Amino acid sequence: HPNLSYEGSKGLVMEGTPLADLARQHGTPCWVISADTLRRRARALKDAFEAKNLPVHCHFAVKAQDHQACLTVLAQCGFGADVVSGGELRRALAAGIRAQDIVFSGIGKTDEELELAIHHQIGQINVESVEELHRLDALARKLERRARIAFRVNPDIDAQTHSKITTGRAEDKFGIAHDTVPALYRKTQTDMTGVELIGLAVHLGSQMVTEAPFRRGYERIASLVRTLRADGLHVSDIDCGGGLGIAYRDEKAPPPSMLAEVIAETLGDLNVQLHVEPGRWLAAPSGVLLARVIDVKEAARRFVIIDAGMNELVRPAMYDSWHGILPLHTPEDTTAGDVVDVVGPICESSDIFARQRRLPSLKKGDLVALLDAGAYGTVMSSTYNSRPLAAQIMIDGDRQAVIRRRQTLDELLAQEAVPDWLAHP
Ligand code: LLP
Repeated sequence: HPNLSYEGSKGLVMEGTPLADLARQHGTPCWVISADTLRRRARALKDAFEAKNLPVHCHFAVKAQDHQACLTVLAQCGFGADVVSGGELRRALAAGIRAQDIVFSGIGKTDEELELAIHHQIGQINVESVEELHRLDALARKLERRARIAFRVNPDIDAQTHSKITTGRAEDKFGIAHDTVPALYRKTQTDMTGVELIGLAVHLGSQMVTEAPFRRGYERIASLVRTLRADGLHVSDIDCGGGLGIAYRDEKAPPPSMLAEVIAETLGDLNVQLHVEPGRWLAAPSGVLLARVIDVKEAARRFVIIDAGMNELVRPAMYDSWHGILPLHTPEDTTAGDVVDVVGPICESSDIFARQRRLPSLKKGDLVALLDAGAYGTVMSSTYNSRPLAAQIMIDGDRQAVIRRRQTLDELLAQEAVPDWLAHP
């Protein structure tokens, strides 16, 4: 990991900050996110497109990491936002992202959410179905506005990733079937006054580490654009979605230059404004989840029980995903170690972070970091087992700040009400 290293008695250091100090100061479990890593990756991504001379607008997929401080860092790097709810839209605006730089994706946008988007005149709403198209057109006419939209195309292509994060097959709920696009496009551009149809969008899935699905998806979009233009229709924007994967373990994850290359080769000569919506690639490596070993239980297996659980980081339980685990103290011998199961405290068998993994030996009280937790970590947390939401710390050079304080149990309880007739029978 480029942003993590062991420095003798300081132990594991992230961008100059010893992580054990943060764990002791703020308690565990807690999340740490590096603004510098975010910035560096944001620049690397933009540079990859600039190197190919591609006119690309980058919209960060807020669902991966929705903290306003992170959105602010990315906005300062010239990123817009890809949002999937009214809540994310409000967050992006609150973080200073301009409405014109916001794309609204999502399979089930409510009337209220669409009205919010129309009201703020955001850059683009990605329409997922003919039903949503009619609803949006009527709402915009009622508000006497014209909403800028793109059609999200379902290209019927398998992204070759985990099936729970695959979105571009015909049987997936997303997008408008590619063969029905031309007729609907014509009808929309000729008849509908509430919407201004500017182009097409596609997103095939997430954690994609092979080139072929990107290429096939964009080729399909390119051929659709040619068909539409041959029919005299206007296409000015193509949204290439997100999905670029990272190496959580030993995956051969391709760099952003691969994505830029594929986009250049498939869509580069269409003379359109391009958009991308990356989430994971930017945010995952910028964050870690810190936890403390509660006990090492010797049973049929050696279980290292830590104080973070699936309620904090659900990815291993939900997708069997692999996250690196490192002790925060400098291990005496990195080659030695024990084969252990690292588990959380939640009363579910799926609350496991690592099965039969060789790790430097860990004992009660030791601190560990779960790696690549900056995307789809905090945002998917819950309070399952009445566990308050963990604190979030941002580090930025030699500065650091608590960007979300740990929720208290009192706050959790205060949101509930016991009806009078039960409390005072
Ligand atoms: N655009 C759209 C329309 C999306 O649905 C997504 C992710 C993205 C962009 C960003 O994709 P990324 O660049 O992050 O791969 N919770 C899962 C991931 C779900 C992704 C959903 N859509 C996980 O933890 O692996």
